[in-house]
Amino acid sequence: MKLRVSIEPSILSADFARLGQQAKEAEDAGVEGIQIDVMDGHFVPNLTFGPGVVKALRKSVNLFLDAHLMIDNPQSFLEEFARSGANRIIVHEEVCKDLPAVLQSIRKLKVEAGVAINPKTPVGAIESVLDIADCVQVMTVHPGFAGQRFMEDQLSKIQRLRREINQRHLKASIVVDGGIDPNTAPLAVRSGAAVLVAGSSVYNPSASVAQNVATLRNSIASTVAAISSD
Ligand code: DX5
Repeated sequence: MKLRVSIEPSILSADFARLGQQAKEAEDAGVEGIQIDVMDGHFVPNLTFGPGVVKALRKSVNLFLDAHLMIDNPQSFLEEFARSGANRIIVHEEVCKDLPAVLQSIRKLKVEAGVAINPKTPVGAIESVLDIADCVQVMTVHPGFAGQRFMEDQLSKIQRLRREINQRHLKASIVVDGGIDPNTAPLAVRSGAAVLVAGSSVYNPSASVAQNVATLRNSIASTVAAISSD
């Protein structure tokens, strides 16, 4: 079966003074979506943006907008993020006391629901929600900052999730976020990733967004072809 791998640049590494334009550059480069890293300075040691930025980006691009909420009490903001034009809301397992209820609330808002797990969180913590999540996002860095090193010890979690999702014939896609570049992207894909979130390897001064996206796609081409022919 032909495998499709999506690339979602994370705007955390973009030039915030030209956010709309930078999102458009990603859209023109043919990416499948962009990820908007929402941080509260509490769940993670960094502060970024809220639903206002999602709303502004909604006007700039037609892309799938993925809001990754790295915040405590995500329940309090779900409605606002859904109204802002996000297509998917991803919450962290570590802050949800009743994860199934939070995912169901997101779905009731008519947007896709995703769950992210930190490097220290085992796959077992989300196994019971795999049937109601549209995606599972495996963090391959400790969330908070762009430009960190990919944690290869997380690959076994991606592999375990892939096996479980396939065995149970579920639809949840596996998103991998953190330290994705042309060297690590093939590892993530070989382990079972269907969506790659990439910040600093897409938005950096050494090449254009289009060139960086093309380099990332080329880096996974042979892995994708090999998996597709299995
Ligand atoms: C981690 C964020 C990531 C990260 C991606 O805190 O959720 O999206 O910034 O950036 P890179 O690709 O540079 O690790």
